[in-house]
Amino acid sequence: MKIDVLSLFPEMFTGVFQSSILKKAAENGLATFNVTDYREFSEDKKHHRVDDYPYGGGAGMVLKAQPIFDAVEHVKAKVEGTPRVILMTPQGDRLDHQKAVELSKEEHLIFICGHYEGYDERIREQLVTDELSIGDYVLTGGELPAMVIIDSVVRLLPGVLGNEASPIADSFSNGLLEHPQYTRPANFRGLEVPEVLLSGHHKNIEAWRHKESLRRTFFRRPDLLEHYPLDEKERQWIEE
Ligand code: ADE
Repeated sequence: MKIDVLSLFPEMFTGVFQSSILKKAAENGLATFNVTDYREFSEDKKHHRVDDYPYGGGAGMVLKAQPIFDAVEHVKAKVEGTPRVILMTPQGDRLDHQKAVELSKEEHLIFICGHYEGYDERIREQLVTDELSIGDYVLTGGELPAMVIIDSVVRLLPGVLGNEASPIADSFSNGLLEHPQYTRPANFRGLEVPEVLLSGHHKNIEAWRHKESLRRTFFRRPDLLEHYPLDEKERQWIEE
């Protein structure tokens, strides 16, 4: 997968793209990361401005259409195919696991990170395919949201996580929160690991995990169960 980011602060991405799983994904040829400073596309050769006052007046500046259009066209020209062009904005669709899965199937993603009160509406109308938010709060720019989305997408690419099974067991991947986990020792300061996990009985372990996953979802995120039809046995487990 090719990932392009358009940002006025490319240095913000250095640590993220050069650490841990994302770094390995790049080293293994599973993802490429490229950050473009769209200030370089400003037609204002003196001050390199990319924002301007809003027509009609009002507070705050508006990101101009021209540098963003030119930067996106520049990035698109280097690659074949039709990339998804994703605008970071608190007005966008909220990121969730389904969206991360959907994006992980694309060949090329372009993220646009703004730092202003607003974007010229023509960017939204003509250039972007998606508007995404990471939650109902406002950050100072789109860089952190882009990093969050990229991280959630890249870890789903086949081969990126060492253990192929792990994204499948993730919280949300089956619509539920993940079950509790334990590792050695079996007794830590008198706190015991549930017996069934030490039993080696795979069917019982699976049943216990599913039950705990349901119970945890019910107590922490009952909203998720609206999309998860419970059978009779599952309903009883929750009520236990
Ligand atoms: N830019 C500023 N706040 C944002 C948010 N919550 N999600 C995406 N982009 C943003």
